[in-house]
Amino acid sequence: TELSGYEYINISTPRPGVGLVTFNRPRALNALFTPLFRELNDALRKLDKDAEVGAVVLTGSEKAFAAGADIKEMKDKTFSDAYGDDFIELWSEMASAIKKPVISAVNGYALGGGCELAMMADIMYVSMGATLGQPEIKLGIIPGAGGSQRLTKAVGKSKAMELILTGNNFSGKEAEQWGLAAKAFQTPEECLEGAITTAERIASYSRIAVKAAKEVVNKSQDLGVREGVEYERRVFHGMFGSKDQKIGMAAFAAKQKPEWENA
Ligand code: CAA
Repeated sequence: TELSGYEYINISTPRPGVGLVTFNRPRALNALFTPLFRELNDALRKLDKDAEVGAVVLTGSEKAFAAGADIKEMKDKTFSDAYGDDFIELWSEMASAIKKPVISAVNGYALGGGCELAMMADIMYVSMGATLGQPEIKLGIIPGAGGSQRLTKAVGKSKAMELILTGNNFSGKEAEQWGLAAKAFQTPEECLEGAITTAERIASYSRIAVKAAKEVVNKSQDLGVREGVEYERRVFHGMFGSKDQKIGMAAFAAKQKPEWENA
């Protein structure tokens, strides 16, 4: 179908309603570069539009989620190249354009841009032994795909500053303890399975309600509490215009399972 034929990613449907995107650039530990993002963005946009899909899982291999931006692709870039092409802008489409929930299942290395991409997902799951970090300082640069902002919001300023200024790695176990990851699993298989199970659960709910829930939670990252609560209230009121609100509440009252119309 139209979701095949990619070179650097594989797409599958492990469970009803779940789109699984797996990075497939094993020889470079899934290092991230423009051709991969063209494919990823294309696939995510198609999954976002696909009525059968309710949530997406993004993963790599057991060895690497993604070992960061492709250093060999970047090393000769000039300021004009970077500024002229708005380097990295292409990477953030997942965070700006995709309305369905994305869960990152992080095993192995998630460094630099790999860690940033994992943080762009709506929910991060990790295996305990995963290796995360923002090592850009060691290359004479800084995080460029949102790491300084998303890591800081998640773990607080002092810890984020320490991680970004030292370039020290941290484990999946730590990521979960600090609240950066929602759950940590013993093994990579359990991590992927856990992400797929959660995606399947999300996909079983009203697409309209899920979309609205993601939208309002994300607003909390940009708005102050007062404006955020006002925004939530407007969207909440809007839910009473949906069929699924009537369906969900009628089913509760009748002690039945709701049959969502996603409308
Ligand atoms: N870019 C390009 N190639 C990479 C890469 C990267 N980020 N990470 C790994 N590779 C390549 C290696 O060059 C190697 O290729 P060759 O076989 O052709 O030499 C192959 O993947 C396997 O890697 P290693 O032999 O290094 O594997 P290892 O198990 O010994 O080490 C590692 C694994 C610790 C992850 C190590 O590969 C490493 O340190 N990678 C770089 C990590 C990094 O600095 N990432 C941040 C990049 S900067 C960034 O992301 C900017 C941003 O904010 C957007």
